Amino acid sequence: MPEQSATITAVSHYVPEGRLTNRDLEKMVDTDDRWIMERTGIRERRIVEQGTPTSSLGAEAARRVLSERGVEADEIDLIIVATVTPDMMFPSTACVLQEKIGASNAWGFDLSGACSGFLYALATGAQFIQSGRHSKVLVVGADVMSSIIDFEDRATCVLFGDGAGAVLMEAAKGSNGVVDWILGSDGSGGPYLYMPGGGSLHPPSAETVERKMHYVHQNGRSVFKFAVRGMIEVSESILQRNGLTPSDLKLFVPHQANMRIIKATAEKLRLDPARVAVNIDRFANTTAATIPICLSEASTDGTIEEGDLLLLVSFGAGFTWGGILLRWGC
Ligand code: UT7
Repeated sequence: MPEQSATITAVSHYVPEGRLTNRDLEKMVDTDDRWIMERTGIRERRIVEQGTPTSSLGAEAARRVLSERGVEADEIDLIIVATVTPDMMFPSTACVLQEKIGASNAWGFDLSGACSGFLYALATGAQFIQSGRHSKVLVVGADVMSSIIDFEDRATCVLFGDGAGAVLMEAAKGSNGVVDWILGSDGSGGPYLYMPGGGSLHPPSAETVERKMHYVHQNGRSVFKFAVRGMIEVSESILQRNGLTPSDLKLFVPHQANMRIIKATAEKLRLDPARVAVNIDRFANTTAATIPICLSEASTDGTIEEGDLLLLVSFGAGFTWGGILLRWGC
């Protein structure tokens, strides 16, 4: 089958209505709006009503993508859901989402890449288009981080939010689409950011609950350093090997974990701040959803147009990281 370039032909997102502001958090833990704003750049985050699963957010983002492109759900060949907060251990959230949107001709699977999950999924989806094997791949990045956050732990509960973003990938007609990608991981970074309980290593028990093992644990300071270094390195590598400089980019779309990480990366790359996608102030860190939500907003407000060159960059638990160079448009 012929090799063809894969591109994003539609993008959308969904965030829950419920807002949790820094002021709200002041009443829950020993923190304050000023610390959160200065140390993270986050003002508020969206939080689901209790019991709303990741598939519901992902399905709504997916429906919006299909409607934007005028595609029926049964035309989708493959669904990839990047998430660390699946509805259940199994079946996959991709299967649940398939049923919710009625994508009866698709197959699907979940992909666990934490904050790099969407980029892992985008590169994976692109392979199925490029090989000519599939014509419509739905890639979803969705997380209900509030389901695995300890709202008594000020070091983590201020950082995360819930949300979903989705894209449709199809074969590009012209020269748009995925130009290049670099994905990486380093398992020695595992102990810096993880959720120990609930898997086969520590199956759920009264003890795992008692020891708060079903929550996110993070060594924030270390992750911060690795994240800045990792995002700079992957950005420089992918630009260099494609003969590009940061000034060739219309938009730099970094994972939204901390405004200081975004700024440090952008400054090292000498990027014009106007060309850096930022929405961490409104949505916080939605893990697999941050990058597609940024793309969705940039597409809707006209920041990115047909033919613009974008660099999507992530860093997260694993450690995992990625960079995808993309020429926007069908
Ligand atoms: O997306 C996945 C990847 N994750 C990341 O990229 C996160 C990377 N790390 C970070 O974003 C930052 O490290 C944090 C925002 C998590 C923390 O910021 P920091 O500047 O590294 O603070 P710190 O952990 O060094 O803590 C500084 C102080 C500590 O107090 P002492 O020991 O100096 O007295 C903390 O106890 O700030 C305290 N602190 C808080 N104070 C008020 C920690 N959390 C809070 C809080 N409110 N919410």
